Amino acid sequence: MSEKLAEVLIVEDSASLRKIYTEYLRTADIQVDVAGNLKEAREALELRGYPVILLDVKLPDGDGFEILRELNDQGSQTLVIVMTAHGSIGKAVDAMRLGAYDFLEKPFDSRRLKSTVKSAVAQVENLAERPADEDVDKPKQFHSFIGGSEPMQEVYGLIKRAAPSKASVFITGESGTGKELCAEALHRQSARSDGPFIALNCAAIPKDLMESEIFGHIKGSFTGATANREGAATLANGGTLFLDEIGEMSFDLQTKLLRFIQTGVVQKVGSNKDEVVDVRFICATNREPLDEVRAGRFREDLYYRLHVIPISMPALRDREDDIMLIANQFLNRFSREETKRYDGFSPAAEAVFKQYSWPGNVRELQNVVRNIVVLNQGGIIDVKQLPPPLDSFSAQVKGVASSKTKTTKRRRTKAGGMLASSVAEIRPMAEVERLFIENAINLCDGNVPKAAALLELSPSTIYRKKLAWEEA
Ligand SMILES: Nc1ncnc2c1ncn2[C@@H]1O[C@H](COP(=O)(O)OP(=O)(O)OP(=O)(O)O)[C@@H](O)[C@H]1O
Ligand SMILES: [Mg+2]
Repeated sequence: MSEKLAEVLIVEDSASLRKIYTEYLRTADIQVDVAGNLKEAREALELRGYPVILLDVKLPDGDGFEILRELNDQGSQTLVIVMTAHGSIGKAVDAMRLGAYDFLEKPFDSRRLKSTVKSAVAQVENLAERPADEDVDKPKQFHSFIGGSEPMQEVYGLIKRAAPSKASVFITGESGTGKELCAEALHRQSARSDGPFIALNCAAIPKDLMESEIFGHIKGSFTGATANREGAATLANGGTLFLDEIGEMSFDLQTKLLRFIQTGVVQKVGSNKDEVVDVRFICATNREPLDEVRAGRFREDLYYRLHVIPISMPALRDREDDIMLIANQFLNRFSREETKRYDGFSPAAEAVFKQYSWPGNVRELQNVVRNIVVLNQGGIIDVKQLPPPLDSFSAQVKGVASSKTKTTKRRRTKAGGMLASSVAEIRPMAEVERLFIENAINLCDGNVPKAAALLELSPSTIYRKKLAWEEA
């Protein structure tokens, strides 16, 4: 017997089919484990993760789709091949929408089974073999986050350390960096995960309704209050209250919120009855909170109450390693949803993705990939398929490559070195700076973070400068 761990879990209720599939796959040197129903499948999955699952839809104790949903919810990387009855293509489409990797319509022969399973196993190995640094200590996924870069490892570490406590967490970061995902991960990682997670977006609620949204109201307390209503604070009892975009909260309400945080006591609008609740506070803003305090828009005492554990979400441009990892996962997800087949990004498209500054961060990347998947037919995605503003940016990326010889030549003809040898050769500082930065980028084959490290600048400084040069 081989020592190899099984690569495939077969979930199939018919014992004879289980046996046949097992034999088929063994002849292809693929190790399998088997489960006869949902319960056994869940038990097997609890013991260990399988790269690939061959899943029957109709099982004696429920629908195979349940497993698909559960894996999806866990953000699992397991690839699921769904087996559907002959003539039930609708089921197969549903399965793909739910995130299945592929489907097999019964009855299928050994060749079809082997090629489908082999391609899934190869896909998993492909994903796994990329950088050698990945191990349990450096996950590439954490709750709903995708990302294996150093800055994200720090975020995962902070979330793990902060989750068990009741201390307030203050999340900052540019728009689209995953502040909300961070709040959800903190909740799910905590002992309160069985309790409610209530998110309140302070920017989306009209100011005069905000107090009632947080604390609730009693019938008749103001025009429109036609019935008693629970607020987010009481709904979150025993769980987590996420105050998103807290920078938008009015000063008045900040005072009431501070009192609530200090005492744990809530009073509904229009009531003088105290209710004691137990909530953990998480808040987020894409503003710089201390600037808001200095400008007198945010109460300093509230800031210190909430800012117990700060978590700063890194911008996507500062974690270049994550860009293609996230792009490829979104590509898989959206192409499944659209039932299209894409084979990844061309090297040129990858270069554009890696060098673009992503001002809207992961949300922007998500939108770009969705746009590409919806508007094209499949295959390999090249620069031609990139939507704005990446299409115009890609011209500049090519420009970086072709300006290589030009810049080098210019530098050589300039007195053969860095220094001007006559007054006439003295150039404006901004021009010299640009020359140096572009030269460094060229020498690093267009790798901005690498050039930035050697120039001892932050990559975002370079991206900002590049943007300014482009606009000039
Ligand atoms: N690391 C990540 N991996 C996968 N998806 C991500 C990641 N970061 C963000 N996203 C996705 O990007 C979108 C934006 O994330 P989220 O809403 O958490 O950002 P945010 O920082 O709260 O943005 P805003 O400031 O605009 O509210 C969501 O769809 C989220 O699922
Ligand atoms: Mg948000």
